[in-house]
Amino acid sequence: MKFAYRLLHPKVAFLLVTKHEERTNIMTLAWHTPVEYDVLAIAIDRENYSYELLSKSKEFTLNVLPINRLDVIWKAGTMSGRDVDKISELNIKLERGVKIETPHIEDAIAFLECAVRDELKLKEHSLIVAKIVYAWADGRYFEETWKEGCGVPMHVGKRYFTTNLKHYEV
Ligand SMILES: Cc1cc2nc3c(=O)[nH]c(=O)nc-3n(C[C@H](O)[C@H](O)[C@H](O)COP(=O)(O)O)c2cc1C
Repeated sequence: MKFAYRLLHPKVAFLLVTKHEERTNIMTLAWHTPVEYDVLAIAIDRENYSYELLSKSKEFTLNVLPINRLDVIWKAGTMSGRDVDKISELNIKLERGVKIETPHIEDAIAFLECAVRDELKLKEHSLIVAKIVYAWADGRYFEETWKEGCGVPMHVGKRYFTTNLKHYEV
């Protein structure tokens, strides 16, 4: 039962960007779900530095890097912004937000700008409900859906990732 949650994977591995005043951070996030067409929810550990920033700013971006950036995806999910400046350490270039103050990753293949609407505090994690206020995706990877064979990184569990290789049509 300890690993039951992994039955819900694979899940697209996002990089969550948070900013409050002069402090900006990135972390890897795979626990997310749509809840309305323009509303999503993320689950985030309240110990994470990113939680501290987003609970103050009430906004964040979710960014996707291609599978060939797996090293960044892994490192952003295994180091804390409290100990290291992950943005300079991982050479992440940020771009000004379109509708919000929080930036997104310059070479992301897709990003979502989100405004926090609600929070449900569970034991260790908070479920953060947020409205999608702006979205962009690279047409080479996404056109109404993620394209077959595109290299979107999905977390399977542990150190394993996969990509969506094959579409089956009904
Ligand atoms: C593939 C992957 C997915 C992750 N998904 C989540 C997640 O959905 N929620 C969460 O709270 N932490 C998640 N983590 C862990 C955080 O990214 C990790 O604790 C990070 O060091 C927190 O960084 P921060 O303290 O700079 O915010 C994930 C880590 C990896 C490697």
